[in-house]
Amino acid sequence: MTNSIQHTHEPLSNHNRKDLTFTEPRSLRTFTPTQAVLAESAGVFHWTPEGRRLYDFSSGVLVANLGHNPRGWMGRFFHHMGYHNLPIGGFESSIEGNDDSSQYFDCGDFFRAAPMTAYNAITPVEVVANRLLLELMNGRPGGSRMDQVMWAASGSEAVQKALWACLARDPSRDIILATRFGFHGKKGLSLAITGCEQDKERDPRVKFISFPMIERMDLSQRNDPFDFGPYELELEILEKQFGKRITALCTEPYLGGGGSYHPPREFLQGIQAFCRKHDIIFVLDEVQSNFGRTGDWFAFESYGLEPDLVILGKGLGNGVPVAAVVGRRDILGSLDFGETSDTWSANPLQAAATIATIEEFQRTNILATMKDSSANIEAGLVRLKEYPFVAHVRGEKGGMVWGVEFKEYGGKTGPEWANLFVLANYLGGNPRNAMASVHGQNSDGVHLLGPLAKKVVRISPPLVMTPDQAKDSTEMLFLAAGRLLSQGQVV
Ligand SMILES: Cc1ncc(COP(=O)(O)O)c(C=O)c1O
Repeated sequence: MTNSIQHTHEPLSNHNRKDLTFTEPRSLRTFTPTQAVLAESAGVFHWTPEGRRLYDFSSGVLVANLGHNPRGWMGRFFHHMGYHNLPIGGFESSIEGNDDSSQYFDCGDFFRAAPMTAYNAITPVEVVANRLLLELMNGRPGGSRMDQVMWAASGSEAVQKALWACLARDPSRDIILATRFGFHGKKGLSLAITGCEQDKERDPRVKFISFPMIERMDLSQRNDPFDFGPYELELEILEKQFGKRITALCTEPYLGGGGSYHPPREFLQGIQAFCRKHDIIFVLDEVQSNFGRTGDWFAFESYGLEPDLVILGKGLGNGVPVAAVVGRRDILGSLDFGETSDTWSANPLQAAATIATIEEFQRTNILATMKDSSANIEAGLVRLKEYPFVAHVRGEKGGMVWGVEFKEYGGKTGPEWANLFVLANYLGGNPRNAMASVHGQNSDGVHLLGPLAKKVVRISPPLVMTPDQAKDSTEMLFLAAGRLLSQGQVV
Protein backbone atom coordinates (compact mmCIF):
# COMPACT_ATOMS: atom_id res chain seq x y z
CA MET A 1 0.00 0.00 0.00
CA THR A 2 1.30 3.46 -0.70
CA ASN A 3 -0.76 5.05 2.07
CA SER A 4 -2.22 3.24 5.02
CA ILE A 5 -5.78 4.14 5.95
CA GLN A 6 -6.06 5.63 9.44
CA HIS A 7 -9.29 5.77 11.46
CA THR A 8 -9.80 8.03 14.46
CA HIS A 9 -9.87 6.36 17.90
CA GLU A 10 -7.95 3.32 16.62
CA PRO A 11 -4.34 3.80 17.79
CA LEU A 12 -3.46 0.11 17.86
CA SER A 13 -5.10 -0.69 14.54
CA ASN A 14 -3.53 2.38 12.99
CA HIS A 15 -0.10 1.27 14.16
CA ASN A 16 -0.62 -2.13 12.52
CA ARG A 17 -1.87 -0.51 9.32
CA LYS A 18 1.12 1.80 9.14
CA ASP A 19 3.63 -0.93 9.85
CA LEU A 20 2.20 -3.18 7.17
CA THR A 21 2.55 -0.43 4.61
CA PHE A 22 6.31 -0.79 4.96
CA THR A 23 6.55 -4.55 5.32
CA GLU A 24 4.19 -5.76 2.57
CA PRO A 25 3.65 -4.72 -1.04
CA ARG A 26 0.11 -3.54 -1.69
CA SER A 27 -0.36 -6.11 -4.46
CA LEU A 28 -0.77 -8.73 -1.76
CA ARG A 29 -4.19 -7.42 -0.74
CA THR A 30 -7.30 -6.27 -2.49
CA PHE A 31 -8.61 -2.77 -1.90
CA THR A 32 -10.83 -2.14 1.10
CA PRO A 33 -11.88 1.21 2.56
CA THR A 34 -11.66 -0.18 6.09
CA GLN A 35 -8.37 -2.05 6.37
CA ALA A 36 -9.87 -3.75 9.39
CA VAL A 37 -7.33 -5.14 11.83
CA LEU A 38 -8.75 -8.32 13.30
CA ALA A 39 -7.03 -9.26 16.52
CA GLU A 40 -9.30 -12.05 17.73
CA SER A 41 -12.30 -13.95 16.50
CA ALA A 42 -14.87 -16.41 17.80
CA GLY A 43 -17.82 -17.81 15.87
CA VAL A 44 -19.40 -15.03 13.85
CA PHE A 45 -17.47 -12.22 15.54
CA HIS A 46 -14.13 -10.48 15.16
CA TRP A 47 -12.58 -8.08 17.66
CA THR A 48 -10.32 -5.20 16.72
CA PRO A 49 -7.18 -4.55 18.79
CA GLU A 50 -9.18 -1.77 20.50
CA GLY A 51 -11.74 -4.39 21.59
CA ARG A 52 -14.52 -3.34 19.26
CA ARG A 53 -16.72 -6.21 18.10
CA LEU A 54 -17.55 -6.76 14.44
CA TYR A 55 -19.99 -9.21 12.94
CA ASP A 56 -18.08 -11.17 10.32
CA PHE A 57 -19.95 -10.97 7.04
CA SER A 58 -17.11 -12.45 5.01
CA SER A 59 -16.03 -15.72 6.74
CA GLY A 60 -12.50 -14.74 5.69
CA VAL A 61 -13.42 -15.07 2.08
CA LEU A 62 -16.07 -17.80 2.36
CA VAL A 63 -13.69 -20.02 4.30
CA ALA A 64 -14.70 -20.16 7.97
CA ASN A 65 -18.11 -21.67 7.22
CA LEU A 66 -18.22 -23.25 10.68
CA GLY A 67 -17.21 -19.95 12.27
CA HIS A 68 -13.90 -18.89 13.71
CA ASN A 69 -12.19 -21.16 16.21
CA PRO A 70 -15.06 -23.61 16.72
CA ARG A 71 -14.26 -25.88 19.66
CA GLY A 72 -15.72 -28.98 18.02
CA TRP A 73 -13.82 -28.53 14.77
CA MET A 74 -10.59 -27.65 16.55
CA GLY A 75 -10.87 -30.67 18.83
CA ARG A 76 -11.34 -32.96 15.87
CA PHE A 77 -8.52 -31.31 13.92
CA PHE A 78 -6.14 -31.80 16.84
CA HIS A 79 -7.39 -35.32 17.37
CA HIS A 80 -6.81 -36.35 13.76
CA MET A 81 -3.34 -34.87 13.92
CA GLY A 82 -2.74 -37.01 17.02
CA TYR A 83 -2.37 -34.08 19.41
CA HIS A 84 -3.91 -36.08 22.23
CA ASN A 85 -1.85 -34.57 25.00
CA LEU A 86 -3.30 -31.13 24.41
CA PRO A 87 -6.24 -30.26 26.63
CA ILE A 88 -8.88 -30.77 23.95
CA GLY A 89 -10.05 -33.80 22.06
CA GLY A 90 -11.70 -36.92 23.41
CA PHE A 91 -13.05 -38.12 20.09
CA GLU A 92 -12.97 -41.63 18.83
CA SER A 93 -10.34 -42.05 16.17
CA SER A 94 -11.33 -42.89 12.61
CA ILE A 95 -7.77 -44.05 12.04
CA GLU A 96 -7.15 -47.68 12.86
CA GLY A 97 -4.49 -48.21 15.49
CA ASN A 98 -4.49 -44.61 16.68
CA ASP A 99 -6.68 -45.13 19.71
CA ASP A 100 -4.03 -45.34 22.36
CA SER A 101 -3.13 -41.76 23.10
CA SER A 102 -0.47 -42.75 25.65
CA GLN A 103 1.91 -43.74 22.86
CA TYR A 104 2.12 -40.11 21.75
CA PHE A 105 3.61 -38.76 24.94
CA ASP A 106 7.15 -38.33 26.05
CA CYS A 107 9.72 -37.89 23.38
CA GLY A 108 11.51 -35.16 25.27
CA ASP A 109 10.85 -31.81 23.61
CA PHE A 110 8.71 -33.53 21.00
CA PHE A 111 5.58 -35.60 21.04
CA ARG A 112 4.54 -38.37 18.69
CA ALA A 113 1.72 -37.40 16.39
CA ALA A 114 1.05 -37.28 12.65
CA PRO A 115 4.03 -35.86 10.75
CA MET A 116 3.71 -32.14 10.12
CA THR A 117 4.53 -32.84 6.50
CA ALA A 118 4.99 -36.10 4.63
CA TYR A 119 6.16 -35.45 1.08
CA ASN A 120 6.76 -38.59 -0.98
CA ALA A 121 5.14 -40.72 1.72
CA ILE A 122 1.65 -41.74 2.80
CA THR A 123 0.00 -40.90 6.10
CA PRO A 124 -3.03 -42.75 7.49
CA VAL A 125 -4.82 -39.45 8.02
CA GLU A 126 -4.62 -38.76 4.28
CA VAL A 127 -6.08 -42.20 3.53
CA VAL A 128 -8.99 -41.48 5.88
CA ALA A 129 -9.56 -38.01 4.40
CA ASN A 130 -9.76 -39.46 0.88
CA ARG A 131 -12.18 -42.13 1.96
CA LEU A 132 -14.43 -39.75 3.91
CA LEU A 133 -14.52 -37.12 1.20
CA LEU A 134 -15.29 -39.63 -1.53
CA GLU A 135 -17.95 -41.37 0.55
CA LEU A 136 -19.53 -38.03 1.29
CA MET A 137 -19.53 -36.85 -2.32
CA ASN A 138 -20.65 -40.21 -3.74
CA GLY A 139 -23.54 -40.16 -1.30
CA ARG A 140 -24.82 -36.77 -2.46
CA PRO A 141 -27.21 -36.53 -5.44
CA GLY A 142 -25.05 -35.98 -8.53
CA GLY A 143 -21.85 -37.17 -6.88
CA SER A 144 -21.55 -40.52 -8.62
CA ARG A 145 -18.50 -39.57 -10.71
CA MET A 146 -16.38 -38.77 -7.68
CA ASP A 147 -13.71 -41.51 -7.83
CA GLN A 148 -10.47 -39.89 -6.74
CA VAL A 149 -9.06 -36.89 -4.89
CA MET A 150 -6.22 -34.76 -6.24
CA TRP A 151 -5.15 -32.45 -3.43
CA ALA A 152 -3.88 -28.89 -3.78
CA ALA A 153 -2.96 -26.01 -1.49
CA SER A 154 -5.19 -23.32 -3.00
CA GLY A 155 -8.25 -23.06 -5.19
CA SER A 156 -6.34 -21.70 -8.17
CA GLU A 157 -3.84 -24.51 -7.91
CA ALA A 158 -6.66 -27.07 -7.89
CA VAL A 159 -8.19 -25.44 -10.99
CA GLN A 160 -4.79 -25.62 -12.65
CA LYS A 161 -4.43 -29.31 -11.80
CA ALA A 162 -7.96 -30.11 -13.01
CA LEU A 163 -7.29 -28.49 -16.36
CA TRP A 164 -3.88 -30.15 -16.69
CA ALA A 165 -5.64 -33.48 -16.26
CA CYS A 166 -8.27 -32.54 -18.88
CA LEU A 167 -5.57 -31.54 -21.35
CA ALA A 168 -3.60 -34.70 -20.68
CA ARG A 169 -6.56 -36.98 -21.33
CA ASP A 170 -6.10 -36.51 -25.07
CA PRO A 171 -3.30 -34.23 -26.30
CA SER A 172 -5.18 -33.56 -29.53
CA ARG A 173 -7.93 -31.88 -27.51
CA ASP A 174 -6.48 -28.53 -26.49
CA ILE A 175 -9.45 -26.15 -26.26
CA ILE A 176 -11.02 -25.23 -22.91
CA LEU A 177 -14.38 -23.48 -22.63
CA ALA A 178 -15.14 -21.22 -19.69
CA THR A 179 -18.01 -18.99 -18.67
CA ARG A 180 -17.34 -15.30 -19.18
CA PHE A 181 -16.74 -13.01 -16.14
CA GLY A 182 -16.01 -15.95 -13.86
CA PHE A 183 -13.30 -16.00 -11.24
CA HIS A 184 -11.11 -19.07 -10.86
CA GLY A 185 -7.87 -17.62 -9.51
CA LYS A 186 -4.90 -15.56 -10.52
CA LYS A 187 -2.30 -18.12 -11.47
CA GLY A 188 -1.66 -20.12 -14.65
CA LEU A 189 -4.70 -21.75 -16.20
CA SER A 190 -6.94 -20.51 -13.38
CA LEU A 191 -6.25 -16.96 -14.58
CA ALA A 192 -6.56 -18.06 -18.20
CA ILE A 193 -10.20 -19.08 -17.66
CA THR A 194 -10.99 -16.04 -15.47
CA GLY A 195 -12.71 -12.94 -16.87
CA CYS A 196 -13.24 -12.45 -20.59
CA GLU A 197 -11.56 -12.12 -23.98
CA GLN A 198 -10.60 -8.50 -23.34
CA ASP A 199 -8.45 -9.14 -20.26
CA LYS A 200 -4.69 -9.14 -20.56
CA GLU A 201 -2.64 -12.33 -20.75
CA ARG A 202 -5.22 -14.37 -22.65
CA ASP A 203 -4.51 -17.98 -23.44
CA PRO A 204 -5.52 -18.85 -27.03
CA ARG A 205 -6.69 -22.29 -25.89
CA VAL A 206 -9.51 -20.71 -23.82
CA LYS A 207 -12.83 -19.69 -25.40
CA PHE A 208 -15.52 -17.95 -23.39
CA ILE A 209 -19.27 -18.46 -23.39
CA SER A 210 -21.92 -16.22 -21.85
CA PHE A 211 -23.28 -16.65 -18.34
CA PRO A 212 -26.82 -15.42 -17.56
CA MET A 213 -26.58 -12.06 -15.84
CA ILE A 214 -29.31 -9.82 -17.25
CA GLU A 215 -31.88 -12.54 -16.62
CA ARG A 216 -30.89 -12.73 -12.94
CA MET A 217 -29.92 -9.15 -11.98
CA ASP A 218 -32.05 -9.32 -8.86
CA LEU A 219 -33.48 -12.03 -6.68
CA SER A 220 -36.98 -10.88 -7.62
CA GLN A 221 -36.24 -12.57 -11.00
CA ARG A 222 -35.37 -15.88 -9.36
CA ASN A 223 -38.34 -17.78 -10.72
CA ASP A 224 -38.67 -16.03 -14.08
CA PRO A 225 -38.75 -18.30 -17.12
CA PHE A 226 -35.39 -18.76 -18.78
CA ASP A 227 -34.54 -19.40 -22.41
CA PHE A 228 -31.43 -21.52 -22.86
CA GLY A 229 -31.68 -21.12 -26.65
CA PRO A 230 -29.15 -18.28 -27.16
CA TYR A 231 -26.63 -20.00 -24.88
CA GLU A 232 -27.05 -23.28 -26.69
CA LEU A 233 -26.43 -21.49 -29.97
CA GLU A 234 -23.14 -20.06 -28.68
CA LEU A 235 -22.04 -23.51 -27.62
CA GLU A 236 -22.99 -25.08 -30.93
CA ILE A 237 -21.07 -22.39 -32.84
CA LEU A 238 -17.94 -23.16 -30.82
CA GLU A 239 -18.49 -26.85 -31.34
CA LYS A 240 -18.72 -26.33 -35.09
CA GLN A 241 -15.53 -24.30 -35.02
CA PHE A 242 -13.41 -26.50 -32.77
CA GLY A 243 -15.21 -29.85 -32.71
CA LYS A 244 -13.23 -32.62 -31.08
CA ARG A 245 -10.51 -30.19 -30.01
CA ILE A 246 -12.69 -29.10 -27.07
CA THR A 247 -11.60 -31.03 -24.01
CA ALA A 248 -13.38 -29.39 -21.09
CA LEU A 249 -15.85 -26.76 -20.01
CA CYS A 250 -15.28 -25.11 -16.65
CA THR A 251 -17.75 -22.91 -14.83
CA GLU A 252 -18.58 -21.74 -11.34
CA PRO A 253 -22.10 -22.70 -10.26
CA TYR A 254 -22.73 -18.99 -9.64
CA LEU A 255 -20.47 -16.09 -10.52
CA GLY A 256 -18.91 -15.29 -7.15
CA GLY A 257 -16.06 -12.84 -7.65
CA GLY A 258 -17.78 -11.58 -10.80
CA GLY A 259 -20.51 -9.92 -8.74
CA SER A 260 -22.74 -12.65 -7.30
CA TYR A 261 -24.88 -13.84 -10.23
CA HIS A 262 -26.91 -16.94 -9.45
CA PRO A 263 -28.13 -18.65 -12.61
CA PRO A 264 -31.25 -20.64 -13.32
CA ARG A 265 -30.75 -24.40 -13.00
CA GLU A 266 -31.63 -24.78 -16.68
CA PHE A 267 -28.48 -22.92 -17.68
CA LEU A 268 -26.07 -25.18 -15.82
CA GLN A 269 -28.04 -28.28 -16.74
CA GLY A 270 -28.01 -27.14 -20.36
CA ILE A 271 -24.24 -26.73 -20.51
CA GLN A 272 -23.80 -30.07 -18.78
CA ALA A 273 -26.03 -31.70 -21.43
CA PHE A 274 -23.91 -30.08 -24.16
CA CYS A 275 -20.78 -31.52 -22.54
CA ARG A 276 -22.28 -35.00 -22.38
CA LYS A 277 -23.40 -34.83 -26.00
CA HIS A 278 -19.89 -33.99 -27.21
CA ASP A 279 -17.81 -35.96 -24.68
CA ILE A 280 -16.52 -32.73 -23.11
CA ILE A 281 -15.40 -32.87 -19.48
CA PHE A 282 -17.76 -30.86 -17.28
CA VAL A 283 -15.73 -29.16 -14.55
CA LEU A 284 -17.58 -27.41 -11.75
CA ASP A 285 -15.51 -24.93 -9.76
CA GLU A 286 -16.96 -25.19 -6.26
CA VAL A 287 -14.01 -23.55 -4.52
CA GLN A 288 -16.39 -20.94 -3.16
CA SER A 289 -19.71 -22.75 -3.09
CA ASN A 290 -18.69 -26.01 -1.43
CA PHE A 291 -19.68 -26.84 2.13
CA GLY A 292 -22.96 -25.09 2.38
CA ARG A 293 -22.93 -21.78 0.57
CA THR A 294 -25.80 -22.80 -1.72
CA GLY A 295 -27.70 -24.46 1.13
CA ASP A 296 -26.48 -27.99 0.34
CA TRP A 297 -23.14 -29.66 0.90
CA PHE A 298 -22.30 -28.93 -2.72
CA ALA A 299 -23.74 -26.67 -5.39
CA PHE A 300 -24.00 -29.61 -7.80
CA GLU A 301 -26.84 -30.84 -5.57
CA SER A 302 -28.59 -27.46 -5.45
CA TYR A 303 -28.44 -27.13 -9.24
CA GLY A 304 -29.21 -30.76 -10.10
CA LEU A 305 -25.85 -31.49 -11.77
CA GLU A 306 -23.52 -34.45 -12.09
CA PRO A 307 -20.07 -33.03 -12.86
CA ASP A 308 -17.07 -35.02 -14.07
CA LEU A 309 -14.68 -33.00 -11.92
CA VAL A 310 -15.50 -30.81 -8.93
CA ILE A 311 -12.97 -28.32 -7.59
CA LEU A 312 -13.06 -27.77 -3.84
CA GLY A 313 -11.33 -25.21 -1.62
CA LYS A 314 -11.99 -22.44 0.91
CA GLY A 315 -14.56 -23.97 3.31
CA LEU A 316 -13.05 -27.43 2.90
CA GLY A 317 -10.46 -26.68 5.58
CA ASN A 318 -12.40 -24.01 7.52
CA GLY A 319 -9.18 -21.95 7.64
CA VAL A 320 -6.42 -24.46 6.97
CA PRO A 321 -5.23 -23.96 3.37
CA VAL A 322 -6.54 -26.97 1.49
CA ALA A 323 -8.13 -27.50 -1.90
CA ALA A 324 -8.74 -30.47 -4.15
CA VAL A 325 -10.05 -31.71 -7.48
CA VAL A 326 -12.39 -34.63 -7.04
CA GLY A 327 -13.74 -36.67 -9.91
CA ARG A 328 -13.36 -39.27 -12.60
CA ARG A 329 -10.50 -41.72 -12.25
CA ASP A 330 -9.91 -41.92 -16.01
CA ILE A 331 -9.36 -38.14 -16.19
CA LEU A 332 -7.34 -37.62 -13.02
CA GLY A 333 -5.34 -40.71 -13.84
CA SER A 334 -4.13 -39.31 -17.13
CA LEU A 335 -1.13 -37.62 -15.52
CA ASP A 336 2.00 -39.45 -14.45
CA PHE A 337 4.11 -39.58 -11.27
CA GLY A 338 4.95 -36.12 -9.97
CA GLU A 339 2.99 -34.12 -12.49
CA THR A 340 0.68 -32.60 -9.85
CA SER A 341 2.77 -33.14 -6.74
CA ASP A 342 4.13 -30.27 -4.68
CA THR A 343 5.31 -29.51 -1.16
CA TRP A 344 1.95 -28.98 0.48
CA SER A 345 -0.65 -31.06 -1.32
CA ALA A 346 -2.15 -33.86 0.78
CA ASN A 347 -0.11 -33.00 3.84
CA PRO A 348 -1.52 -34.27 7.17
CA LEU A 349 -2.68 -30.82 8.31
CA GLN A 350 -4.88 -30.52 5.22
CA ALA A 351 -6.20 -34.04 5.64
CA ALA A 352 -6.98 -33.55 9.35
CA ALA A 353 -8.72 -30.25 8.61
CA THR A 354 -10.84 -31.85 5.88
CA ILE A 355 -11.92 -34.70 8.14
CA ALA A 356 -12.73 -32.25 10.94
CA THR A 357 -14.86 -30.14 8.59
CA ILE A 358 -16.85 -33.10 7.28
CA GLU A 359 -17.38 -34.51 10.77
CA GLU A 360 -18.47 -31.17 12.22
CA PHE A 361 -20.93 -30.55 9.40
CA GLN A 362 -22.42 -33.96 10.10
CA ARG A 363 -22.44 -33.59 13.89
CA THR A 364 -23.95 -30.11 13.98
CA ASN A 365 -26.39 -30.63 11.11
CA ILE A 366 -25.55 -27.07 10.19
CA LEU A 367 -27.11 -27.23 6.75
CA ALA A 368 -30.52 -27.70 8.32
CA THR A 369 -30.10 -25.26 11.17
CA MET A 370 -28.85 -22.43 8.95
CA LYS A 371 -32.12 -22.18 6.99
CA ASP A 372 -33.81 -19.73 9.36
CA SER A 373 -30.73 -17.54 9.51
CA SER A 374 -30.55 -17.59 5.73
CA ALA A 375 -34.18 -16.43 5.48
CA ASN A 376 -33.59 -13.65 8.03
CA ILE A 377 -30.49 -12.39 6.26
CA GLU A 378 -32.20 -12.37 2.90
CA ALA A 379 -35.18 -10.46 4.30
CA GLY A 380 -32.79 -7.94 5.86
CA LEU A 381 -30.93 -7.48 2.58
CA VAL A 382 -34.09 -7.04 0.53
CA ARG A 383 -35.01 -4.24 2.93
CA LEU A 384 -31.85 -2.40 1.88
CA LYS A 385 -33.50 -1.77 -1.47
CA GLU A 386 -35.56 0.94 0.27
CA TYR A 387 -32.45 3.10 -0.09
CA PRO A 388 -32.06 4.93 -3.39
CA PHE A 389 -28.42 3.89 -3.82
CA VAL A 390 -29.13 0.15 -3.56
CA ALA A 391 -29.85 -1.31 -7.00
CA HIS A 392 -30.14 -5.06 -6.57
CA VAL A 393 -29.80 -7.96 -4.20
CA ARG A 394 -28.81 -11.37 -5.54
CA GLY A 395 -28.12 -14.63 -3.80
CA GLU A 396 -28.73 -18.28 -3.10
CA LYS A 397 -32.16 -19.14 -1.71
CA GLY A 398 -31.67 -21.07 1.52
CA GLY A 399 -27.92 -20.61 1.24
CA MET A 400 -25.42 -18.23 2.74
CA VAL A 401 -24.09 -15.98 -0.01
CA TRP A 402 -25.50 -12.81 -1.53
CA GLY A 403 -24.35 -9.69 -3.33
CA VAL A 404 -25.78 -6.21 -2.79
CA GLU A 405 -25.27 -4.02 -5.85
CA PHE A 406 -25.09 -0.25 -5.49
CA LYS A 407 -26.02 2.37 -8.07
CA GLU A 408 -25.48 6.02 -8.87
CA TYR A 409 -27.46 8.42 -6.69
CA GLY A 410 -27.13 12.02 -5.54
CA GLY A 411 -23.91 12.68 -7.42
CA LYS A 412 -22.12 9.56 -6.23
CA THR A 413 -21.42 6.50 -8.35
CA GLY A 414 -22.38 2.93 -7.47
CA PRO A 415 -18.76 2.04 -6.58
CA GLU A 416 -18.56 5.09 -4.29
CA TRP A 417 -21.75 4.11 -2.45
CA ALA A 418 -20.53 0.52 -2.16
CA ASN A 419 -17.30 1.65 -0.52
CA LEU A 420 -19.10 4.11 1.75
CA PHE A 421 -21.46 1.34 2.84
CA VAL A 422 -18.56 -0.98 3.71
CA LEU A 423 -16.88 1.80 5.68
CA ALA A 424 -20.05 2.91 7.49
CA ASN A 425 -20.64 -0.67 8.63
CA TYR A 426 -17.11 -1.00 9.87
CA LEU A 427 -17.21 2.26 11.83
CA GLY A 428 -20.55 1.37 13.39
CA GLY A 429 -22.46 4.04 15.25
CA ASN A 430 -25.61 2.15 15.98
CA PRO A 431 -27.70 4.49 18.18
CA ARG A 432 -28.96 1.50 20.20
CA ASN A 433 -25.52 1.24 21.69
CA ALA A 434 -25.13 3.59 24.64
CA MET A 435 -21.39 3.65 24.14
CA ALA A 436 -21.65 4.91 20.60
CA SER A 437 -19.64 8.06 20.09
CA VAL A 438 -20.25 10.57 17.36
CA HIS A 439 -18.03 8.54 15.10
CA GLY A 440 -19.37 5.26 16.40
CA GLN A 441 -15.93 4.03 17.37
CA ASN A 442 -17.13 2.29 20.51
CA SER A 443 -20.02 0.48 18.96
CA ASP A 444 -20.32 -2.85 17.22
CA GLY A 445 -19.83 -2.92 13.50
CA VAL A 446 -20.06 -5.31 10.58
CA HIS A 447 -16.98 -6.52 8.75
CA LEU A 448 -17.50 -6.53 4.98
CA LEU A 449 -14.93 -7.01 2.26
CA GLY A 450 -14.15 -4.29 -0.24
CA PRO A 451 -16.68 -4.41 -3.12
CA LEU A 452 -16.60 -7.04 -5.90
CA ALA A 453 -16.83 -6.00 -9.52
CA LYS A 454 -16.44 -2.46 -8.12
CA LYS A 455 -20.01 -1.98 -6.85
CA VAL A 456 -21.22 -5.25 -5.32
CA VAL A 457 -20.86 -5.89 -1.60
CA ARG A 458 -20.73 -9.59 -0.81
CA ILE A 459 -22.62 -10.96 2.16
CA SER A 460 -21.22 -14.31 3.30
CA PRO A 461 -21.32 -14.80 7.08
CA PRO A 462 -20.36 -18.10 8.68
CA LEU A 463 -23.13 -20.69 8.40
CA VAL A 464 -23.29 -20.86 12.20
CA MET A 465 -24.85 -17.41 12.52
CA THR A 466 -28.04 -17.77 14.58
CA PRO A 467 -31.40 -16.44 13.36
CA ASP A 468 -31.29 -13.70 16.03
CA GLN A 469 -27.77 -12.71 15.06
CA ALA A 470 -28.90 -12.63 11.45
CA LYS A 471 -31.68 -10.19 12.35
CA ASP A 472 -29.44 -8.08 14.55
CA SER A 473 -26.63 -7.81 12.03
CA THR A 474 -28.81 -7.05 9.01
CA GLU A 475 -30.54 -4.38 11.10
CA MET A 476 -27.07 -2.90 11.57
CA LEU A 477 -26.61 -2.87 7.79
CA PHE A 478 -29.94 -1.08 7.44
CA LEU A 479 -29.03 1.53 10.02
CA ALA A 480 -25.60 2.07 8.45
CA ALA A 481 -27.23 2.70 5.08
CA GLY A 482 -29.64 5.08 6.80
CA ARG A 483 -26.75 7.03 8.32
CA LEU A 484 -25.21 7.36 4.87
CA LEU A 485 -28.43 8.76 3.49
CA SER A 486 -29.05 11.19 6.34
CA GLN A 487 -25.48 12.44 6.28
CA GLY A 488 -25.46 12.63 2.51
CA GLN A 489 -22.15 10.78 2.75
CA VAL A 490 -20.21 8.83 5.30
CA VAL A 491 -18.75 10.13 8.59
C1 LIG B 1 -14.81 -19.97 -7.63
C2 LIG B 1 -13.38 -19.76 -7.25
N1 LIG B 1 -12.43 -20.52 -7.82
C3 LIG B 1 -11.13 -20.37 -7.52
C4 LIG B 1 -10.72 -19.42 -6.61
C5 LIG B 1 -9.27 -19.28 -6.30
O1 LIG B 1 -8.99 -19.80 -5.04
P1 LIG B 1 -7.65 -19.40 -4.27
O2 LIG B 1 -7.77 -17.95 -3.92
O3 LIG B 1 -7.65 -20.30 -3.07
O4 LIG B 1 -6.52 -19.67 -5.19
C6 LIG B 1 -11.67 -18.63 -5.97
C7 LIG B 1 -11.26 -17.62 -4.99
O5 LIG B 1 -11.96 -16.70 -4.63
C8 LIG B 1 -13.04 -18.78 -6.31
O6 LIG B 1 -13.98 -18.02 -5.76
